[in-house]
Amino acid sequence: MFYELASSSWGEEEIRALQRVIDSGQLTIGDHVRRFEDDFARKFGVRHALMVSSGSAANLVGVAALFYKKDRPLQRGDEVLVPSISWATTYYPLQQYGLRLRFLDVELESLNMDTSQLERALTPRTRMVVAVSILGNPAALDRIRAFCDRHDLYLFEDNCESMGASLNGKMCGTFGDICTFSTFFSHHISTMEGGVVATDDTELYHLARSMRAHGWTRDLPEDSTIFDKRPDDFFEAYRFILPGYNARPLELSGAVGIEQLKKLDTMVEIRRRNAALFQSLFANDERFIIQQERPGARSSWFSFTVILNPALDIERGTVMRAMKEADIGYRIITGGCFLRHDVVKYFDYDTVGEIVNANIAHDRGFFVGNHPRDLTSQLERFHQVLDRAAARRRGSVVSV
Ligand SMILES: Cc1ncc(COP(=O)(O)O)c(C=O)c1O
Repeated sequence: MFYELASSSWGEEEIRALQRVIDSGQLTIGDHVRRFEDDFARKFGVRHALMVSSGSAANLVGVAALFYKKDRPLQRGDEVLVPSISWATTYYPLQQYGLRLRFLDVELESLNMDTSQLERALTPRTRMVVAVSILGNPAALDRIRAFCDRHDLYLFEDNCESMGASLNGKMCGTFGDICTFSTFFSHHISTMEGGVVATDDTELYHLARSMRAHGWTRDLPEDSTIFDKRPDDFFEAYRFILPGYNARPLELSGAVGIEQLKKLDTMVEIRRRNAALFQSLFANDERFIIQQERPGARSSWFSFTVILNPALDIERGTVMRAMKEADIGYRIITGGCFLRHDVVKYFDYDTVGEIVNANIAHDRGFFVGNHPRDLTSQLERFHQVLDRAAARRRGSVVSV
């Protein structure tokens, strides 16, 4: 394909790391996963990092952990404020644990939660905000953090799309009480499948660690506050304290993760160089609304979003056909507006105000890929194709 949505970020180092693990015979979780976790925690300046089998598993284990805290656990029926655009498995654990979701619209420019709606969304049952930085672009995490602190709410930060991004010099994925990352193919680093739960809260870490492996105590330190170790080793080896999962990663993923993490900064830098070209081609063109960073934000540019200006009569189908002919891959922005999916009928939810921008992004948006390699020819071609496909309608304003 001329311009694909995603491509491999692996080199020789990752292949050699896989081979070493295969040669060792230890394919299930072991020292490589542990080292990846240590490297990850150091890199992001968090106390604890827990590798799991996917970003979705990170969200599941993370939400589950909040239900078993000693003080102020989440409870069924509690309300959680969520953005209307995110990935499906941002929302699923919330539904599965019986939370009531309150959806807020997004900003058209950042595609992140419209935080001006937070205060009016608050009720006596509100317990948590889920913040998602969409496609590398930092959400207003400082504002959301302050809101949560003011009202004694948990902040769950789903940072699965934005590894390497920062806001006011602080890394995304370090603002939440509990934060999650994905290392799926096409993400900023790739371990095939994989995810990380990051937190400074040792109790939450121990809960998530137990949840990751059957809800047992085996991986917990003796001084953990979430259980009292008994002297009977026979029983302790298979002692279950929480209704957990098996969300463990493979050792192979840990070994690849160690190599990928070393390359993260360089890969993000290359993504940012591509982004500078994308911006120079598309900014200040009223036909196209492209994703914007808020002041103080540094996106790690997962991809390049375009929303066809709803005030202009440009048909998305025409644009998509032109991209298809030009062999350019494109797709819906993240999962589009979640409220538009059939699965929402299983949720206990409502909306806070009107959901306008998430629907515009759903109906008039798409994204093309960003990669950790130079995309000059792809982006220039993409621009030519869009410029031509949208040219006929240039300036024909319709009412919306
Ligand atoms: C915001 C968000 N959360 C969670 C996930 C789930 O991650 P994974 O695909 O690793 O399960 C994704 C996937 O891309 C995502 O975009």
